[in-house]
Amino acid sequence: MTVYFIDGQFTGKDEVKVSIDDRGYYFGDGVYEVIKVYNGQLFTEKEHIERLFNSAAKIHLSISHTEKELVEIVKALIEKNNLVNGHVYLQVTRGVSARQHHFPMPEVPAVLTAYTVEGERPTANMENGVKVKTVADIRWLRCDIKSLNLLGSVLAKEEAKQAGCEEAMLHRDGLVTEGSSTNMFGVKDGVVRTHPVSNLILEGITRQVVLQICQKLNIPVEEKAFTVEEAYEMDEFFFTSTTAEVMPIIQIDDRVIGNGEIGTITKQLQEAFTLETP
Ligand code: PDD
Repeated sequence: MTVYFIDGQFTGKDEVKVSIDDRGYYFGDGVYEVIKVYNGQLFTEKEHIERLFNSAAKIHLSISHTEKELVEIVKALIEKNNLVNGHVYLQVTRGVSARQHHFPMPEVPAVLTAYTVEGERPTANMENGVKVKTVADIRWLRCDIKSLNLLGSVLAKEEAKQAGCEEAMLHRDGLVTEGSSTNMFGVKDGVVRTHPVSNLILEGITRQVVLQICQKLNIPVEEKAFTVEEAYEMDEFFFTSTTAEVMPIIQIDDRVIGNGEIGTITKQLQEAFTLETP
């Protein structure tokens, strides 16, 4: 049985007790992270833990552990669960308090939950490519925060799934922002294009790794929003995330991208990304 970490203790899943008064349950009042594990080793954990603290700070939530303690907890979970390939899920909520919208007063301790999930690289999709559906981005204006409030993403992903697509490509006023749980990239005339870092997207860690790889490989990058119409005309398209890595997109709505096969730059980035992982 998977070992969980909750409220300062390691415990079996069946023994995990979550209070009905947890603010995560009532309000989605908290933040989270997903960190990938390859061959029993964490990948880009420093960046993920840093982003967790940044997200928490942006919602005025103080985490009752240091960054170093969090890494130790995560490593202990990997060991206790004998995790080889998969990911660690971490979330922190604003604690347990009778339901009222404003912050608890006096302050209550934040609740940290963490556990591991087994999973292999999504190789079939990575080799064949996937379809995405354009969906209006109805999320709030602080998408830079990795908040537990994911209703906008949940509805978009479901709409995409109902249409037989792997992911939703979100757009605000016709400009592509990101995916429901991924960052979106196009390639046009050899230039990799993606939405700039702003309050409208989550600054993905995989996005950062891919942009660094582009720099190393001398692939030009333009961090500038593009329209859905421009997306249809891209030579290549892909999305990135911790679990999806570099995922080729071969169709957006009913429009086939390029020749309907994985693009050469996408393939180059996939290969270079694999070399970065433990
Ligand atoms: N999703 N954009 C959004 C809205 C996300 O939720 C995510 C991550 C990303 C990609 O970020 P990263 O490369 O750091 O994983 C972009 C995680 C994996 C999830 O919700 O499961």
